[in-house]
Amino acid sequence: MTESNSKNITWHKPLVTQADRERRNGYNGVVLWLTGLPSSGKSTLAHEVERVLFARGCNSYVLDGDNIRHRLNKNLGFSPEDRKENIRRVGEAANLFADAGVIALTAFISPYQEDRDQARALHEPGRFFEVFCKCTLDVCEQRDPKGLYRRARKGELKEFTGVSAPYEEPKSPEIIVETDRHSLEECAEQIIRYLEEQGIIQPAPTP
Ligand code: ADX
Repeated sequence: MTESNSKNITWHKPLVTQADRERRNGYNGVVLWLTGLPSSGKSTLAHEVERVLFARGCNSYVLDGDNIRHRLNKNLGFSPEDRKENIRRVGEAANLFADAGVIALTAFISPYQEDRDQARALHEPGRFFEVFCKCTLDVCEQRDPKGLYRRARKGELKEFTGVSAPYEEPKSPEIIVETDRHSLEECAEQIIRYLEEQGIIQPAPTP
């Protein structure tokens, strides 16, 4: 845990709790933490899951690596220290969303197990789900929608995950989606089914 520089502060207990919000909403505020190599499909999948949740009447929010780095984390680069701070802040932000009764979907490479574990540690058991977007490096590199693998191979991009920076595969993720073997819809369906099985959201009404 990062040492706090803020002194003389007091925690103000809210009158409306997470449990109150969940009772009213009919579903739980949780974090779905998507992790995987660049171009493994994290953002696309997070947005597809959000689309399905929205249609089901559940509030969710996607925190996406590229977007968050445009604003909140614009002062951070890609050194191991900066990635750690990136994930620390996102873990805290996701925690706030879950506390607010929202299903937070995070789409960050989050290459280090230790940093992901730290994000998990902010939650009660059953509130944080690590989703490994599994995809071979070859396939990620073939997809390369932003041309970053190509630039990294040419040596134009330093510390690029999968090429010149490490990616630690999750040790025991709650969900593994194989984005190189299954369609976007199938992967999203797998996550939604998991949320239903865990009692986080209600099963879809049968037509
Ligand atoms: S993380 O490692 O700190 O979790 P994050 O998910 O926020 O990374 O950002 C990854 C995105 O930044 C990639 O999708 C890619 O578009 C961009 N990017 C730019 N430089 C790099 C780099 N050196 N390594 C990985 N991603 C990079």
